[in-house]
Amino acid sequence: MRENGTIFIADYDVKTRDLVSAFLTYQGYNITASESGTAFFDTLQKNNVDIIIADLAYLHSIAPDFKERSTLLNPLLVLIGYGDTGSADLDNTASGTVFTLPKPLNLDELESLVMRAREYQSMKMYDRSEGESVQNQILSSTMIGTSPPMRALFEMITKVAASNATVLIQGESGTGKELAARAIHQLSDRHAKNFVPVNCAAIPDDLLESELFGHVKGSFTGAYANRIGRFEMADKGTLFLDEIGDMKANLQVKLLRVLQNREFEPVGASKSQKVDVRIVAATNKNLEELVINRDFREDLYYRLSVIPITIPPLRERREDIPILIHTFLIRFNDDKRHAVKGFSRAALGILCNYEWPGNVRELENLVERLVILKGSGLIVPDDLPEKYLSGKLLLNPLQPTVVPGESKLPEGGICLNSAVDEFENNLITQALARSGGNKKEAALLLNLKRTTLIEKLKKKNLAFSEE
Ligand SMILES: Nc1ncnc2c1ncn2[C@@H]1O[C@H](COP(=O)(O)OP(=O)(O)OP(=O)(O)O)[C@@H](O)[C@H]1O
Ligand SMILES: [Mg+2]
Repeated sequence: MRENGTIFIADYDVKTRDLVSAFLTYQGYNITASESGTAFFDTLQKNNVDIIIADLAYLHSIAPDFKERSTLLNPLLVLIGYGDTGSADLDNTASGTVFTLPKPLNLDELESLVMRAREYQSMKMYDRSEGESVQNQILSSTMIGTSPPMRALFEMITKVAASNATVLIQGESGTGKELAARAIHQLSDRHAKNFVPVNCAAIPDDLLESELFGHVKGSFTGAYANRIGRFEMADKGTLFLDEIGDMKANLQVKLLRVLQNREFEPVGASKSQKVDVRIVAATNKNLEELVINRDFREDLYYRLSVIPITIPPLRERREDIPILIHTFLIRFNDDKRHAVKGFSRAALGILCNYEWPGNVRELENLVERLVILKGSGLIVPDDLPEKYLSGKLLLNPLQPTVVPGESKLPEGGICLNSAVDEFENNLITQALARSGGNKKEAALLLNLKRTTLIEKLKKKNLAFSEE
């Protein structure tokens, strides 16, 4: 297991170097160490370093160089032997974030700091907020995604929030329609007023009208007192009409009237009431199809879809999968006070290839479940429920989905690591199948050393019976 990332230890003190090396090697990190100040930047450039653990005195001794070349310091810096003073210059020059730890080292503290540094770093990799607007900061703190369609969505949300236009959000179940609606409200100048959601599919038809518009006392059996409706609650704010495709015809007419005149009548009232609401509607049904089949009023459809927004399913933006997994992992580790370190590459590869019919909601639920069940350590393919494994390419070795030269970059981008992994797994499986499981022969077919093949199998968590 060497999947936790690479840590570079820079310290003149051999005892500290050895102790930290041994401890973090045991924790599953790749370690590279440097004892001489001159080798610092060289080592950094030649190795794909995730975290630097450096002694303060060591860094001070290479300070001139360190300041000049601090832009190289994308990895995070964990400083040990850190004093109260002398930190400012480092904080300002290092582009990475500085975590500090006093000497003598407490290994528990070191472990938790390194974990925090890793989490922080992954967040930082995806942090689009630097230099961007407050709007984008709000968005990026709630809606996660870096794929081109998600970036376009964020841009759209930011633009549309500034207007009062009615928005229709479409997308499969679990793609984040409600999240988008809330973001629109949050970014609009209505944000200080209410965001009022109404699920049109969850409220019985005969109650929906009074739920939306309110009623006056005695207007129907059970109307014991006046009651205000969701429209009034959302006055000067945003009304979120969820599952709008399920709204019955008689209410569609009434809704159309509010959209046209900005006024409505509570059930049983004789006077209409003015209201100032921004409407955001959502549905996972194909509203155009409903219109064609006359299940949804065409005039209402046009009124609602002044600004149509479609959130693509997760399988069309697979590159968002790793960052979503990462974000949910941090959240659930935090919520449940668990310490799951991450997902092995093989496990991540499998999840990147999965179809996700339940979209982000399904992914979120899966990560929650895995965090609860696993508690700590690294999540490997064996931890995944069966249905996620059935899509694993190894089970279908003769049909490589990625062939060099023929590969087309999918519309929504690709998870490169998992595609390469998948391709490799496929060829390895074919070689093993052809050699009847004999690793020596399989290695020959792949032009690899037998030990290299075995190492790969272990690294990929591919279990093959020993010959
Ligand atoms: N881009 C995202 N970043 C972070 N979390 C997300 C994202 N998209 C969805 N989620 C999470 O997934 C879950 C489902 O999202 P949401 O309720 O907004 O989906 P929906 O499209 O309204 O689904 P449905 O059609 O089933 O009502 C929520 O817990 C939400 O926080
Ligand atoms: Mg929803």
